[in-house]
Amino acid sequence: MITVEIRNLIKTFSETTAIDNLSLDIEKGKITGLIGADGAGKTTLIRLIIGLLLPDSGEVKTLDLNPFTQKSELTPKIGYMPQKFGLYEDLTVIENLWLYADLKNQPYEFDKMLEFTNLKQFQDRLAGALSGGMKQKLGLACALLGTPDFLVLDEPSVGVDPISRKDLMKMVRDLINPETTVLWSTAYLDEAHSFDTAVVLDKGKVIYNGRPHDLSSTSKGFEEKVIELMGGYKKEDSLIAENYKPISSDLNCTVEAVNLEKKYGNFYAVRNNSFCINRGEIFGLLGPNGAGKSTSFKMMCGLTSPTDGTAKIMGIDILENPEKARSNLGYMAQKFSLYGSLTVRQNLEFFAAAYGINFSDRKKRVDEIIHVFGFEDIQEQKSEDLSLGFKQRLSMACALIHNPPILFLDEPTSGVDVITRRDFWNHIISLAKKGVTILVTTHFMDEAEYCDRISLFYKGETIAVGTPDELKQKANADNMEDTFITLIKESEKE
Ligand SMILES: Nc1ncnc2c1ncn2[C@@H]1O[C@H](COP(=O)(O)OP(=O)(O)OP(=O)(O)O)[C@@H](O)[C@H]1O
Ligand SMILES: [Mg+2]
Repeated sequence: MITVEIRNLIKTFSETTAIDNLSLDIEKGKITGLIGADGAGKTTLIRLIIGLLLPDSGEVKTLDLNPFTQKSELTPKIGYMPQKFGLYEDLTVIENLWLYADLKNQPYEFDKMLEFTNLKQFQDRLAGALSGGMKQKLGLACALLGTPDFLVLDEPSVGVDPISRKDLMKMVRDLINPETTVLWSTAYLDEAHSFDTAVVLDKGKVIYNGRPHDLSSTSKGFEEKVIELMGGYKKEDSLIAENYKPISSDLNCTVEAVNLEKKYGNFYAVRNNSFCINRGEIFGLLGPNGAGKSTSFKMMCGLTSPTDGTAKIMGIDILENPEKARSNLGYMAQKFSLYGSLTVRQNLEFFAAAYGINFSDRKKRVDEIIHVFGFEDIQEQKSEDLSLGFKQRLSMACALIHNPPILFLDEPTSGVDVITRRDFWNHIISLAKKGVTILVTTHFMDEAEYCDRISLFYKGETIAVGTPDELKQKANADNMEDTFITLIKESEKE
């Protein structure tokens, strides 16, 4: 039985062909994973399947309906979680669930959802005050309400921590019935093992359609095989780092936090956080969703004031001298925070001006950044139209535009494909070699290995600090994922 039947589908946007003569069947009652690089066409395909976009030519039939002309019949049968799920930020967690239950005529039975998502104790918190990963889980819970025939999830696990990510697939499998078809797009290749079928998309074409097992059973392993399918990754010298002015400093700690604390009412988002990061060091902040990583970043940048403690950037107190401190750092926020209606070039120009690059140097610097990031072809595109991966690249470019000695990167690789992730880390490591101090968060445990030191953060507090090897030893584990899980469980017991 087939839930979606696609024949010779074509969809173009001005000059780019997003979907290129694509044919595909999506089987009923199966979980089909849609895997592909940024800009491969995943979101476009999803939108065509559920009738949010009209194809140029070709045919789509979803649940035997034409998704465009029979949309009103189709919509109630579909549970859809877009990349940016529409939570009501000024409603609480539970109010959001009530609202979506009402919209879908469902009873107020959320116990299992709240349990799974770890949101039970936070049900009266405003959705806008949740961490990025917590929002993602609430969005998924809302999309799962009711019993849709067809569940469509566009990158549901972006930003979800490794422990919860394991539960996510379980949650979906538990909450749907055997008849439900699921289409699940992802950039996490390790997730693909749990799909029934894996469809790999590249440049708007299906380049693999089969059991995920057959992708991983090659001698090269899964990740390498997918990279090969996508055209391969060749590590090159980082042009970004090459063009960077070297950073020298006699400071002991280029980034320093002393007893940082952030309290909301009686709740400690961050408590007693102290660290000293040296010049040229890559310092990773790891921890489950809601641990307080982004809150720490925001305090370090002066975007939110701590309720106690101090933070210094290149020896300058961020509270006493925020402007001077900030001129020394580049910050890439977890949530895309550029100007969507401005083009790529305009965003770069804006940030160049905001960071105080004087007018005569600005154009040269922007041209240079466009060149090193390979933005030549997209510089006139509006940033809101970029794929997630390109948005992340642009955010990073904006953070680097003034050549800062310190970089704060809050989940720079969430939602980007494997090839881009490798490329990002190539740049990050090369920048550190130039003397740039880097504070970074990630939910990819393989990336944690690239850090010189890691601080493991849980419920607002540091539970372990050390090199990746030191932490592994402490947890008696041979990989970072087990280390993460073990150390958090141990701290839970205490
Ligand atoms: N304005 C606020 N009011 C109440 N609680 C808040 C507010 N802002 C953040 N919090 C809470 O502080 C905690 C830490 O959030 P933070 O965003 O720092 O987590 P995180 O470690 O970055 O998580 P993620 O991995 O999901 O990005 C969460 O429980 C969050 O809900
Ligand atoms: Mg965060």
